[in-house]
Amino acid sequence: MHQNPLAYLVGLEGTALLRSFAGEHDRAFVEARIGEIRKLLDDETLAGADAAVDVDRVSTVDGYRIWSETYDGPNSAFDIDEPVVGDILDGIPEGVALDAACGTGRMTALLAGRGHRTVGVDSSADMLARARERVPGGEFRLGDLHRLPVADDAVDLVVCSLALTHVPELGPVIAEFARVLCPGGHLVISDIHPEWVARGSIPAVRLPDGRPARLDTYRHAVGDYLRAALAVGLQVRRCEEPGGRSAEPADPPRQPTTDMGPWEDWPWSLMDLVPEATAAANAGVPVEIIWHFQG
Ligand SMILES: C[S@@+](CC[C@H](N)C(=O)[O-])C[C@H]1O[C@@H](n2cnc3c(N)ncnc32)[C@H](O)[C@@H]1O
Repeated sequence: MHQNPLAYLVGLEGTALLRSFAGEHDRAFVEARIGEIRKLLDDETLAGADAAVDVDRVSTVDGYRIWSETYDGPNSAFDIDEPVVGDILDGIPEGVALDAACGTGRMTALLAGRGHRTVGVDSSADMLARARERVPGGEFRLGDLHRLPVADDAVDLVVCSLALTHVPELGPVIAEFARVLCPGGHLVISDIHPEWVARGSIPAVRLPDGRPARLDTYRHAVGDYLRAALAVGLQVRRCEEPGGRSAEPADPPRQPTTDMGPWEDWPWSLMDLVPEATAAANAGVPVEIIWHFQG
């Protein structure tokens, strides 16, 4: 992957301009954006050949080996899905619950707290080690979403949070969820919204030798989840797209910074260079998608 901060910034400006073309902003806004693009193109810090980086892709097993060390630090994605997933779980009776791609056991803990007998599966031994510490009463198994180490019809509930963005095709994995669910069982999914993946929401890690890398990540359209679930006989109970930011301009307006911040690890730090374009480009765009299906 080639990542160029100038491309990212011009992309934000361009997305804001597309929304202007759809009638969301006035002439002064359009002229401000075009003026800002000119300044960005003239900025020697951004134009230098070494401003851009070539980034390796890493498998989720290798990537989560690194990320497992800091994964449970503050993460705004957790604040977005937990209230909605929690609300869905409150309406589901206790039973045997599978936390598929359980990671460090964030959802397993929510399930155990609601009285479920929990089984967590993940392909990262490093993430699982943390889950075992977090939920000592849970059962955890190393395994892959495409071949869950769980018998047919064995669970009443499957939860899969923030993991399907790592699989290339949803169909085989959702079919696997349907296989392990008993008749009438529930499936609750949270995932990074395709609009947000398209804006560059791809987990970043530093390899042991210091090079920046990105985890294998795929963008699934909203309809892809639906088609995969309907194909295996699941019914939709609920769909939410939380996390959209307000379209209201900041008051007072946020002033652009000139510091690119640690963008090779955290591309969002670039947004502070063009705050008005960022607010317009991302206004109302959901960050996550959450589904409740039932067999
Ligand atoms: C962003 S973390 C989410 C962890 C946890 N579900 C949560 O919401 O905090 C993604 C997890 O998916 C796991 N994962 C990715 N692809 C997988 C696969 N094919 N099979 C099993 N686990 C997988 C990773 O190892 C990682 O623990």
